Amino acid sequence: TVSPAHSASTASTLITNIAALVTNDPSSGDGSPLGLVQDAAVVIEGDRVVWTGDQSKAPATDNRVDAEGRAVVPGFVDSHSHLVFAGDRTQEFNARMSGRPYSAGGIRTTVAATRAASDRELEANVTRYLAEALRQGTTTFETKSGYGLTVEDEARALRVAAAHTDEVTYLGAHIVAPEFAEDPAGYVALVTGEMLDACAPHARWIDVFCEKGAFDGDQARAILTAGKAKGLHPRIHANQLSYGPGVQLAVELDAASADHCTHLTDADVDALAGGRTVATLLPGAEFSTRAAWPDARRLLDAGVTVALSTDCNPGSSFTSSVPFCIALAVRDMGMTPDEAVWSATAGGAAALRRDDVGRLTPGAYADLTLLDAPSHVHLAYRPGVPLVSGVWRRGERVV
Ligand code: NIG
Ligand code: FE
Repeated sequence: TVSPAHSASTASTLITNIAALVTNDPSSGDGSPLGLVQDAAVVIEGDRVVWTGDQSKAPATDNRVDAEGRAVVPGFVDSHSHLVFAGDRTQEFNARMSGRPYSAGGIRTTVAATRAASDRELEANVTRYLAEALRQGTTTFETKSGYGLTVEDEARALRVAAAHTDEVTYLGAHIVAPEFAEDPAGYVALVTGEMLDACAPHARWIDVFCEKGAFDGDQARAILTAGKAKGLHPRIHANQLSYGPGVQLAVELDAASADHCTHLTDADVDALAGGRTVATLLPGAEFSTRAAWPDARRLLDAGVTVALSTDCNPGSSFTSSVPFCIALAVRDMGMTPDEAVWSATAGGAAALRRDDVGRLTPGAYADLTLLDAPSHVHLAYRPGVPLVSGVWRRGERVV
């Protein structure tokens, strides 16, 4: 029972009988990066974690939840998605699975559909994909504009995104807008000028698709530098489809993250290892484009911080499932299950330069995912199985 002294928001809840608790605090539990505690309990007060440890030592609380010998991990931090769009690209996917290669050009199809959509339609799509992600254990997500490519449509996308998350990214530089096909310099001027002015108030981050068919290194540098001057922090879609300057530019500009990192030279890997920029790997994109996998093992062995995210978008990776990405990373990218779970939680937080999510330590947000499994390893061991049986977000049970 809740005494009158406790308002609902400060009532404490004990989650106990957790067979395996991933804290991501190396000073807890087994001392590994996952800070794995067996026979554990967590205490939540308001929207925060206030205690974790051996269940036999747990303090008294107002409420109690029995995890029945299941595993708890931090809510997933999906640090890369494109959820503000309309329509889908089933035909393009079908054609690709019959042998047609992926190209950035398909983005235009979604730009046309997104421009034609009403605010309400865009809002309904974001709500739907977010609910889908939440059911699969994602409690923090970043999302981008990039399917508007006019001043009004980019600002609208960011307004829609900002109603759902603080991690909003301005991606006016996704591709050159069709109207500027003959004048890419004019489009870069728009992206760094009037469009940036309209978008900066709604965003935390600025991103560029640095790739053949999108923006080159000089254009990307100009765009990110202009964003920085307006208070936005850079992140880059880099080295996805081919080798290029994106990764080294990301490190040079102290971008929070270089995303994709599929085609890397030794110099790219050395640059990442020497900087603060996280390498965000997005295996859903390689799955859906039948491309070669990024080499997570090479990055980890070089000491690079790796995040794993969905890249959820209608063209190259139409999945909102972090558990699916964990399974792919373990099967095909050389990651251990422990590394993949860390990258999808603490790694995603690092890619967003956050320390209040992606870990279950006193003071962090009480974002927890309860698995219908005795261990976090089952996320990779039982691919495709809906293992998420409970989700707490900001201390509230939402699934
Ligand atoms: O992350 N790389 C650029 N953007 C998306 C693809 C978007 C699309 O094809 O619609 C990506 O893969
Ligand atoms: Fe992307």
